[in-house]
Amino acid sequence: MRVTIFGTGYVGLVTGTCLADVGHDVVCVDIDRAKVDGLNQGVIPIYEPGLEPMVKANHAADRLHFTTDAATAVGHGDVIFIAVGTPPDEDGSADLKYVLAVARTIGRHLGGPTVIVNKSTVPVGTADKVRAAIAEELAARGADIAFEVASNPEFLKEGDAVNDCMRPDRIVIGAGSAVAVDKLKRLYAPFNRNHERIVVMDVRSAELTKYAANAMLATKISFMNEIANIAEKVGADVEMVRQGIGSDPRIGWHFIYPGAGYGGSCFPKDVQALERTAHQFGYRAELLGAVESVNDRQKGHLFELIERHYGNQAALRDKTFAVWGLAFKPNTDDMREASSRRLLQQLWDAGAKVRAYDPEAGHEAQRVFGERDGLELCDSANAALVGADALVVVTEWKQFRSPDFERLRAALADRVIFDGRNLYHPDEVEAAELAYYGIGRGRSV
Ligand code: UGA
Repeated sequence: MRVTIFGTGYVGLVTGTCLADVGHDVVCVDIDRAKVDGLNQGVIPIYEPGLEPMVKANHAADRLHFTTDAATAVGHGDVIFIAVGTPPDEDGSADLKYVLAVARTIGRHLGGPTVIVNKSTVPVGTADKVRAAIAEELAARGADIAFEVASNPEFLKEGDAVNDCMRPDRIVIGAGSAVAVDKLKRLYAPFNRNHERIVVMDVRSAELTKYAANAMLATKISFMNEIANIAEKVGADVEMVRQGIGSDPRIGWHFIYPGAGYGGSCFPKDVQALERTAHQFGYRAELLGAVESVNDRQKGHLFELIERHYGNQAALRDKTFAVWGLAFKPNTDDMREASSRRLLQQLWDAGAKVRAYDPEAGHEAQRVFGERDGLELCDSANAALVGADALVVVTEWKQFRSPDFERLRAALADRVIFDGRNLYHPDEVEAAELAYYGIGRGRSV
């Protein structure tokens, strides 16, 4: 099938590439010329394992095209996806200006009956707004063309996006007609082998499904962070508690890892946006508000542990902290809403210095923080330790999992590790005569 995708960000680029990989003829369109030129030369704007060779192979096979020419792109697609960003507005609602701008572009160029599919994470009711924007543009040029707006939310995770896209748990299709459902079923048939993954529903339910999924996952994390904080107070170890509850299939092992708080481009924004949507419809979503405020507090928790160890903030002045991990999670260079940002700011505010290392997010950190006093971006985990007083682990990259603790003891003047992702066992660290602070590990603090 011929597919057009507006937006070559995370969702658009991965979706376009996977659809091309199963044989569809895909055109990805973006207003950012530099990005499009780069993609045409095989330069991938994001770090995502496995994506680069797939983009290159499908581009070379002439199934994956990148363009800024919206008119031609609209003419190409039997199905047109909208996969542009929905950043938070000032009040936390999702800002639809990019989605609606694309809708207008589609309306200006549409030449024949087409299904337009929202893949961006958009509040309930957005399909209606997209439909109205397209209809307005069609009316302005006196065109009478049948079109339908469907919802097909994306559930991919950064760092594992290609795999999620090629082997989805489920494919949610929200549509109002059999024509649209059939078209999308045909499009996704290559991903729907062996057992049924397609769930068909109405458009509004599909729109809400996306938010419900992310809000549920964020809730699990905040819940576990709350239990971790209680564990710390009562002298229990949340890692034991996690193992004690995860084996119950009703709870499950996933997303019950306590830590330095959730970040990224999705959970913080989506929990807030769902809360706003509820509010706009006259409902106060208390649980969502709590999920958000627990997370906000959790992002400051590592610094609280640091303060606790040193007795007070003044004692942090001129200390140097080695920080391992800046990205909001491993296998990505993305630092949006990353817990590291809060921690670094708090350390700087207290007059401390930071020597940071992240396997992929170094350049992003440079962009975010610029040249500034108190920050040294290092090119290895060991380099970050040079001259450091203490180590803080913020992101659980695999390469941080088994450090040489003897070496750490020799390197860290104050002999202390703050482990924001519970990577280490307290006994192991303490056996090397290093003080250890984890998240929710009450027995050791
Ligand atoms: C998330 C969802 O997991 C995807 O299903 C969804 O499609 C995506 O948002 C989206 O809406 O686009 P992502 O933001 O890439 O994916 O990252 P996650 O792996 O979900 O991690 C989010 C944050 O939660 C990270 O900061 C991570 O460190 C934190 N986390 C995750 C925990 O603190 N504990 C856990 O147990 C799991």
